[in-house]
Amino acid sequence: MSQQPNPATHSNPAPRTTRSGPAHQQAALSETALSETAAFETAGTPWSNTGSPHYLDFARFGPPPPAVRDALLDAVRLSATGAPGVVDELHDRENAAADIAARLTGFDRAGVTLVPSTSAGLFHVAFGLDGPGRVLVPRHDFPANVYPWLRAQERGGLTVDFLDNPDGHTSPERVAAALRPDTVAVTVSAVDYRTGRRADLPALREVIGDRLLVVDAIQGFGVSDQPWNLADVVVAGGQKWLRSGWGAALFAASPRALDRLSDGLTGWSGVEDRAVFDATEHPALADAGRVTMTMLNPLAITGLLASLTELERTGQHAVAEAVTANADLLVERLLSTGADLLTPAEPQHRAGIVSVRLAEPRWTAVTERLRELGVVATARPGYLRFSVHSDTPAGTIALATS
Ligand SMILES: Cc1ncc(COP(=O)(O)O)c(C=O)c1O
Repeated sequence: MSQQPNPATHSNPAPRTTRSGPAHQQAALSETALSETAAFETAGTPWSNTGSPHYLDFARFGPPPPAVRDALLDAVRLSATGAPGVVDELHDRENAAADIAARLTGFDRAGVTLVPSTSAGLFHVAFGLDGPGRVLVPRHDFPANVYPWLRAQERGGLTVDFLDNPDGHTSPERVAAALRPDTVAVTVSAVDYRTGRRADLPALREVIGDRLLVVDAIQGFGVSDQPWNLADVVVAGGQKWLRSGWGAALFAASPRALDRLSDGLTGWSGVEDRAVFDATEHPALADAGRVTMTMLNPLAITGLLASLTELERTGQHAVAEAVTANADLLVERLLSTGADLLTPAEPQHRAGIVSVRLAEPRWTAVTERLRELGVVATARPGYLRFSVHSDTPAGTIALATS
């Protein structure tokens, strides 16, 4: 069956930044308000695309660049007109976004759809994998990749086996040692949210054979050139590195995954003849369109479409190269200051996240200093996480490591 369109924080308090120096009024920039960014621009302040002069927090949220911001605002305006055909026009954007997602991931178009978040996609997979069987879950992954599996286990069928990865490394060796004959799936983060450690998808595929390889790709997709189609499921929310804004994620499933996933959380929008309201149960769609509960938010989809269009135009490889070069610079500068890196120094083992360990009292002092400098990063007890994008200015990296 061909793909049909769907009809259509976890973290510490936001670091505060200074607009033009410590003496000025401060504004929280973590969840950058679109209107605030626009206000900065109209005031003639030379803000970069990120809406902040020293933004190193893409692992938390990627402020939408102007093209995405404008597409989002236009979509809101269009929806407000209520003009004939507008609702269909907005919902149709799902198809265009999924077409690009298929090309960027290398998955068949029938295996690609959109979901509201990374978590939503992972819950669909966990509840679509009927037991009996075991799933290997890295214990220290971001919890969005843990709870879906625990909840599915509570419901019966699947059994969770935890894999210990305190350093954020779901290594092929650890996975190989933890596999059991009845392990049916292994889930990993493409890039670890804390250490920035990048998974080795080819090696993982090699050790797990034809078990399902499920990848939470939110910290890597769009900035890390990986052979995504070696996975069976790739889910990536658009709100971080893709800079799409909140509320939309890409979801790609291999033919093997589609074969094995049932209609666990499929809602009315994921079934055949969904617009026929005849009080009977319709079969779930055979393609990835079944990974849906209801219609998606077309405003969020518009943001994702705009950012995927931009990514395809620039090229994943080019973006990944620029991100790696900026991360190299950051690593080099941090090492020269004697920092204790939590992230691997070798470029092939990381993407855009570079974290350093910092114990008290240095942690508090450094965090305070970054705030004074207007550097936006994520500070959690014991470590600081910087994240660079392709267009992060070298001056920002220099300032953050000064
Ligand atoms: C690795 C990882 N997965 C998932 C999430 C959450 O994604 P979502 O909000 O799209 O469910 C985060 C961070 O918020 C993350 O770092």
